[in-house]
Amino acid sequence: MTKTETYRELYLELSGLLTDDWLSNLSNFSSAVFNNLPDLNWCGFYLVRESFGPNHLKLGPFMGRPACLDIPFHRGVCGQSASTRAVVLVEDVHAFPGHIACDERSRSELVVPVIANGKLIGVFDMDSPTVARFDSTDAEETGKLIALLNEKTKWPNSI
Ligand code: SME
Repeated sequence: MTKTETYRELYLELSGLLTDDWLSNLSNFSSAVFNNLPDLNWCGFYLVRESFGPNHLKLGPFMGRPACLDIPFHRGVCGQSASTRAVVLVEDVHAFPGHIACDERSRSELVVPVIANGKLIGVFDMDSPTVARFDSTDAEETGKLIALLNEKTKWPNSI
């Protein structure tokens, strides 16, 4: 299967799997991505949780080894994606100043923000043990998966 075909299958699987419940959706989204995309060692969500204050991410549903709990917006790849609300693609994490090494096997990373009705919900982070595992196709296709997640999910006022 080509990369685009793999993402198309994943999109179809998620279309059937996602409900309107945010926590179940983030959990099953992480599992479906982790089990369908090759060469990942970690994927999951870091979330803006209002009770923990602004400009701060907390670990959410994920697949992979246990990960760091807190990421301020001014740190790491996830923090950069959250603060700029942009996709961040890092070909070699060792060359990214401030990269947070939760899992020492991670060598490349792709982070996509989750924004619903103008509000930053958090970020979706994918890690690979291979340098330059992710490219612009991954960024674009993962953006489509996140758009599907947003379409299906009824986000509460605060998480
Ligand atoms: N590497 C991320 C931290 C999260 S872990 O990869 C799971 C970062 O630099 O933000």
